[in-house]
Amino acid sequence: GLIVCRACPLADARTRVVPAFGVWPARLLMIGEAPGVDEDSQGAPFVGRSGILLKAVMAEVGLDFNLAVLTNVNRCRPPNNREPTEREKAACRPWLDLDIATVDPDVIVPLGATAYRAFLPDEPSSITEIHGHVYRRVIAGRERVIVPTVHPAFVARNQPANRPLFTADLARTKEILDGRYQDPQPFRVTAASLVEMEELVRRGNHFAFDVETDGLHRTARIVGVGASDTERSGPEYQSWV
Ligand code: URA
Repeated sequence: GLIVCRACPLADARTRVVPAFGVWPARLLMIGEAPGVDEDSQGAPFVGRSGILLKAVMAEVGLDFNLAVLTNVNRCRPPNNREPTEREKAACRPWLDLDIATVDPDVIVPLGATAYRAFLPDEPSSITEIHGHVYRRVIAGRERVIVPTVHPAFVARNQPANRPLFTADLARTKEILDGRYQDPQPFRVTAASLVEMEELVRRGNHFAFDVETDGLHRTARIVGVGASDTERSGPEYQSWV
């Protein structure tokens, strides 16, 4: 069915359908946006420049490329490498769902905004804000870990700035697969610390005040506050009042 799929306009411009690549079942499924020129001509995902960078960083963090399956939100190349439209993404969704059901991964790594949105449509943060966060969602009948990260093409545009965060996200993915990852402790505010904080503010000297939120977007919730009147002590501070 996939090979002859004509469910959206991308069927007119493609050279071929580019299916998932790898051996399944597999514990790791990595999902990009859509094939580029190289993938369209060679018939496999991530064989071009993005794929070379992805494989290099996977090797750096010890993720075995041969144990992962690679696929895309869209299986056909959009003309001029434009982003697939909502209609095109929806038309291809059954093939993505089929990949997940057959690959049956423990961990899914969406690469870039399009794949991230396919799995976490209600998350208000952008991919550059929340990359590397660890989500747990029931998908295709059981809980899977989702670790969204940026797209390798984004990394390639400014490697000094972006490669470290991409590497850190894939290193975390490796930790999860190895059972070495520990979820962060939930933030707890004790009554005592609130009283101490109030005393510090009442003393009226200089103090630093810091707010921790659950994201960087404007609707993020406050999950903790910190204050300190001693330089370089107490919770991390951002500004002095
Ligand atoms: N970019 C993608 O999102 N997918 C590919 O397969 C290649 C480049």
